[in-house]
Amino acid sequence: MNVTVFDTPEQVGKACALLFASQVMRKKNSVLGLATGSSPIGCYQQLIAWHREGWLDFSDCISYNLDEYVGLPIEHETSYHAFMQAELFSGINMKATYLPDGNAANMNAECRRYDRAIEKAGGIDIQLLGIGRNGHIGFNEPGEKFIYGTHVVNLTESTIDANKRFFESADQVPRQAVSLGIGGIMNAREVVLVAMGVDKAKAIADTVKGPITPMVQASILRTHPNAHILIDKAAASRL
Ligand code: F6R
Repeated sequence: MNVTVFDTPEQVGKACALLFASQVMRKKNSVLGLATGSSPIGCYQQLIAWHREGWLDFSDCISYNLDEYVGLPIEHETSYHAFMQAELFSGINMKATYLPDGNAANMNAECRRYDRAIEKAGGIDIQLLGIGRNGHIGFNEPGEKFIYGTHVVNLTESTIDANKRFFESADQVPRQAVSLGIGGIMNAREVVLVAMGVDKAKAIADTVKGPITPMVQASILRTHPNAHILIDKAAASRL
């Protein structure tokens, strides 16, 4: 795992976009693993800008997102489907984009279907990750074990509190999400975790310097053969 510290959050976003752009230029039909939340926005804006300049083409690429809320209609403005449409997909030309279905009648079957679909597509070439204040990646929350496959998660109070800014109130934040498991993330051939701001400093320090433990799910990335951590100075302040 290599850790790179940048002066500003903008530089983190650009460096992340550079890794995604070089992947797409190396392999036209790349399978991209994408994330929502505030951390990827700078990267997405840069990818859109380069696409508009005319030299970055996603027309053979497909993407799989990490996660989605359970029970939130995809038309809802805070669904991850809606977020991805607004922040990335409407600005580039992806061949196809997929997120897990948080409204499936049988969520266990949906989880298995999503894992099989990624496998059939040849696996994820490059996976973008943010990190929760509690060290979660995707919605793999702190716990007693690392869960391999896509699964339904009960969100922790810390995550509900962090995500309430996207809703009118904390009561409206769904209590469950469906998330790629740690196996799905670790199977990606390259992983890029981005974090900005002092709120993420403890999670980053625990990930980089603490024990490898499911209590800090991101710490498993230390065993990935090709993982990058891109952070700004504030997120690096406890390293
Ligand atoms: C989002 C996701 C989450 C976020 C994390 C950080 O798809 O999987 O793990 O990356 O909660 O969120 P932000 O970037 O909003 O601080």
